[in-house]
Amino acid sequence: MKLLQDRIRQDGEALSSHVLKVDSFLNHQVDSALTMAIGQAFAAEFGAERVTKVLTIEASGIHFALATAVALGVPFIYAKKKKAITLTEDLYSVPVHSFTRGETFNVSVSKRYLSATDRVLIVDDFLATGDALLGLREIVTQSGAHLVGLGAVVEKSFQEGRSKLEATGVRIHSLARIKSMSPDHIEFIEETAA
Ligand code: G4P
Ligand code: NA
Ligand code: NA
Repeated sequence: MKLLQDRIRQDGEALSSHVLKVDSFLNHQVDSALTMAIGQAFAAEFGAERVTKVLTIEASGIHFALATAVALGVPFIYAKKKKAITLTEDLYSVPVHSFTRGETFNVSVSKRYLSATDRVLIVDDFLATGDALLGLREIVTQSGAHLVGLGAVVEKSFQEGRSKLEATGVRIHSLARIKSMSPDHIEFIEETAA
């Protein structure tokens, strides 16, 4: 997605070779028109798949899931992230370790909102180590729903997330794929269609 790549070049800040700060337009202050265009791009990619629910994880995936769900005309669900939960029979739940925070969270979704008849599209802001997204995939598996695909706004292709997710067979579509970066340069994997 050229619009997004151009914006990352202009306003993204590579704090190091591994951490990209996008607080001014994606992650803290949010460019609402860009966010809606991101939702339309995911809907165009996966629109033929008869998606019934879009699934993300709180917090920074929520607005992208909303934009995608509006474009597809379906509800979205955001998985909740808690330090500890009492396991109950009402929840699909999976532990996810966050390297950025050095903590393990329980990620959960109510069983009322996902079931075997659903066709789920997962959407998130970053595809990095893949651990959060593998957790979401596990929740879809627990529910018996069909996982249609995974849409990532920004993929850091030099981290292992893409290959870990690909190994599960899921279709992945990332709107900006970063090959490498440093504080003064961001290199993308080839630009395809707009
Ligand atoms: P993932 O690849 O499945 O997203 O999992 P990973 O464990 O690698 O990412 C952990 C969290 O850090 C995720 O947020 C992810 O969006 C965020 N993240 C990873 N790399 C970057 C980066 O370069 N820049 C920024 N700004 N964020 C990054 P999260 O756990 O979903 O938390 P939240 O921020 O949404 O609350
Ligand atoms: Na996220
Ligand atoms: Na995040």
